[in-house]
Amino acid sequence: MVSSSFKLATFLFLAITSQAALTRTIPQEQQKNELEQAINNATPPAPLSDDAIINSTLHSLYAIGNNTELTKCEKCTTRLTLGKSLALTRPDLIPQIWSEWCIGEGKTSASTCKSTYNRNTVVSSNTGTNFANMLTLMDVTSLDAEYYCYYKESGACALPETPDFDISHLWPEKPEKAYVAPEPSNETFNVLHISDFHIELDYTVGAEANCSLSMCCTPHSQNKLDVPEGYNFEEALGLNDDEVSGLNYYDLQQGDDGKWTKGEWIGANKSVWEPAYAFGHYECDAPEILINSSLHSIADFQSANNLTFDFSIFTGDLVDHDELKYTGYQMTVDSEEIVFRDIKQKLQDIPVYAVMGNHDTFPYGEIASEKSGFSNMFDWNAELMAEMWYDFEWLDAEEAQLVRTHYTGFSVTTKRGLKVISLNSNCWYMKNHYLYANMTRDPDQFGQFEFLIDELVESEANDQRVWIIWHIPVSTSETLPIPAKIWTDIIERFSPYTIAAMFNGHTHRDEFSLF
Ligand SMILES: *[C@@H]1O[C@H](CO)[C@@H](O)[C@H](O)[C@H]1NC(C)=O
Ligand SMILES: *[C@@H]1O[C@H](CO)[C@@H](O)[C@H](O)[C@H]1NC(C)=O
Ligand SMILES: *[C@@H]1O[C@H](CO)[C@@H](O)[C@H](O)[C@H]1NC(C)=O
Ligand SMILES: *[C@@H]1O[C@H](CO)[C@@H](O)[C@H](O)[C@H]1NC(C)=O
Ligand SMILES: *[C@@H]1O[C@H](CO)[C@@H](O)[C@H](O)[C@H]1NC(C)=O
Ligand SMILES: *[C@@H]1O[C@H](CO)[C@@H](O)[C@H](O)[C@H]1NC(C)=O
Ligand SMILES: *[C@@H]1O[C@H](CO)[C@@H](O)[C@H](O)[C@H]1NC(C)=O
Ligand SMILES: *[C@@H]1O[C@H](CO)[C@@H](O)[C@H](O)[C@H]1NC(C)=O
Repeated sequence: MVSSSFKLATFLFLAITSQAALTRTIPQEQQKNELEQAINNATPPAPLSDDAIINSTLHSLYAIGNNTELTKCEKCTTRLTLGKSLALTRPDLIPQIWSEWCIGEGKTSASTCKSTYNRNTVVSSNTGTNFANMLTLMDVTSLDAEYYCYYKESGACALPETPDFDISHLWPEKPEKAYVAPEPSNETFNVLHISDFHIELDYTVGAEANCSLSMCCTPHSQNKLDVPEGYNFEEALGLNDDEVSGLNYYDLQQGDDGKWTKGEWIGANKSVWEPAYAFGHYECDAPEILINSSLHSIADFQSANNLTFDFSIFTGDLVDHDELKYTGYQMTVDSEEIVFRDIKQKLQDIPVYAVMGNHDTFPYGEIASEKSGFSNMFDWNAELMAEMWYDFEWLDAEEAQLVRTHYTGFSVTTKRGLKVISLNSNCWYMKNHYLYANMTRDPDQFGQFEFLIDELVESEANDQRVWIIWHIPVSTSETLPIPAKIWTDIIERFSPYTIAAMFNGHTHRDEFSLF
């Protein structure tokens, strides 16, 4: 506003002085009065009120929706163009307008519209601010818009053909030795791979475990249908008396010796189909006691089999799957701290090399690069991990510093000389708004690939073997196609000589993929 009214005033002043030059006969006094009047009139019109901007943008959004000339894809990209032009001056208005439009046009359920477009807060995982930030950066005329419309607006545009990227300038030519895997030493050692603990902090013993709305086993779990008159869950589930009166409905604690301490009897809620057990339930995420108990079994397994794990890898996802409106900043921090604390407590001196999953960020799935200018919204997480992993002696000071500068990624060499590289797959995750800002032109805006390649080049030169860990496997459709293509190029370049194996989590399945 400041600069445009300045220009307007300058323009009027020039117009007046040149007119004055042509009309020398007008008396000085009159000229002065006219000039003063003109300057007074040159006050720019009052800027549009927020209400008026909101109304007119909403009107345009609805008009785009009603325009029968436009394809679904064109509607989506036209909305992005409109959003971009507003975001450049008033990004603060984007969340309210898009949320209202989404609900008004019935794009998704009202609660999904709100979590997608409402302004970010610390209590709920809304992403409206991230959406507005993305718009300010996005080149809406590039393929990024089509990628956005494919992934974030349920296939409104077709998935674009993946453009070709040649990243071979990032590495030296593949040496002859690197085409063959080194001969194995036949020395074996044990590594513990754990993943996807998804702690449910509001897990509630006795709550509905057979829910059809929201997350199960929480205070807000619900089945759409009330249990029938005279329903008895013990009978319906075929439970015996011990199962009902035993440990299942107590508030339990497990000591380091593995023994259970019974707290309060919570009881089963008689008006639900299936009351949640103290130890966890199939359709639910994990209560802390299940996590402790699993870790305890791991410790037992070690002593029973006379083995120790050299180290452990944790391939991500500490936070639960509760609805986004129940997913807050503090709950994310608490989940991350509690799970890593419990792992440290039970595994003691075994170093744990971890990655962050799509749930281990706030809001859900988002992370911005330093280049984008919005990374300060996410720095807390890398800082927290750097401090915790250093405190637990999983990483030394130098490695912990990498965590701060590589979005929780790092590189570490084990006592046997194996290198483990940890990366953050949110940097390629299709749900992360920031990736649509400059994906086509700058597919490595986080510098994760450059970091990885530099580490691999160094290891190759030293004949060192490398494991790579991250959360979301490249083989799933959730990794964006451009990074997935870059991944395959990197794997091709550094296998089989340097990259020995890669480990992921996310799918909750015991499976492997072959490149
Ligand atoms: C914006 O729209 C609302 C509801 O349609 C209306 O009440 C309000 O007067 C409008 N404001 C402006 C400035 O047009
Ligand atoms: C356009 O669509 C919206 C609902 O999506 C509707 O409320 C509105 O009346 C339609 N017509 C115009 C001219 O915008
Ligand atoms: C490892 O075992 C394989 C198969 O038994 C054998 O062919 C190979 O020579 C062994 N390597 C070394 C370094 O002992
Ligand atoms: C889990 O273990 C941790 C550390 O040993 C302990 O502090 C916590 O109270 C335990 N939680 C439960 C629910 O047993
Ligand atoms: C039992 O479950 C019902 C239905 O889910 C819920 O409305 C009620 O508050 C619960 N009662 C207790 C004591 O938790
Ligand atoms: C779960 O709830 C559905 C109703 O939504 C009911 O038909 C089904 O029998 C229930 N199953 C169990 C095991 O309680
Ligand atoms: C356990 O392993 C150690 C060394 O690895 C060995 O000395 C010991 O005999 C083993 N004990 C049992 C019971 O197998
Ligand atoms: C997008 O990437 C290009 C190429 O790396 C870069 O020049 C440009 O500054 C980037 N734009 C944004 C908004 O990050």
